[in-house]
Amino acid sequence: MDNSQGTQASDQKKYQDFLNMAAHELRTPVAVLKAYLQMLELQLNRENHLSYINTIEKMDLQLNKLLHLISDLQDGVQANSEELHCLMNDFDINDSVKVCCDSAKAANPDCAIDHELDEACPALKGDHDRIEQVIHNLIANAIKYSKGNKIIKIRSFRDGSSIIVSVLDNGPGIPPDQQSKIFEQFYRVKTTAGHAGGLGLGLFICQEIIRKHDGKIGVKSQEGQGSEFWFSLPVKSSERQAFMAEAGY
Ligand SMILES: Nc1ncnc2c1ncn2[C@@H]1O[C@H](COP(=O)(O)OP(=O)(O)OP(=O)(O)O)[C@@H](O)[C@H]1O
Ligand SMILES: [Mg+2]
Repeated sequence: MDNSQGTQASDQKKYQDFLNMAAHELRTPVAVLKAYLQMLELQLNRENHLSYINTIEKMDLQLNKLLHLISDLQDGVQANSEELHCLMNDFDINDSVKVCCDSAKAANPDCAIDHELDEACPALKGDHDRIEQVIHNLIANAIKYSKGNKIIKIRSFRDGSSIIVSVLDNGPGIPPDQQSKIFEQFYRVKTTAGHAGGLGLGLFICQEIIRKHDGKIGVKSQEGQGSEFWFSLPVKSSERQAFMAEAGY
């Protein structure tokens, strides 16, 4: 077997492993949903409205998980084939951070989620839905991989001709040799990802979205001392010129 055949075989194996894992991940919420549906049938027979609503909410949660997984799968495939589309418009990055923060707080009342925003951030050019998808993913990881008393802080600030958004957590951190690998598709850190579900696609998709915006994404972390994921987005050139002039460049 020559080198290229070896690479092909390992790619194929990676692909099959991924499909297997994806099928498993998809099956789980569907199976839970089926069980709740059966319960609902019983409950409707008894005309018990309170538990009816409670069950509907549980179904909704599982359905949302399923939709989220399917979207990630689609985005992952599109990111691989350069087909992940972004609709570029003017948007306010602080509005996006607030939207994501508020929904994370509402869904996770047991976590201390806080934000600190640079109110002077100018309007940026980008796809606000896609950027919110990135922020949402980073917050979701911060919640998923931290244990116990979860403290999460989201910041926005200006750094020269870029705006930086960062998500800081008090979770397990990431070993230095794996910090760049976690942005590869399907890569998961064995020691921390063990019990948490996931496809290993979230950061890969985030990276592709940020790349489409001419930005950068990265992480600062020390094992046992939390992680700070960040991304930067370029300020529009007209804003940049005004800022440089004001700063005396
Ligand atoms: N905040 C964090 N703290 C510690 N480890 C993290 C954190 N965020 C990501 N990781 C590590 O990076 C890996 C890759 O993250 P990524 O979001 O790409 O995938 P995932 O969370 O495993 O699955 P998915 O996002 O597709 O549901 C995770 O499995 C985990 O090991
Ligand atoms: Mg994730």
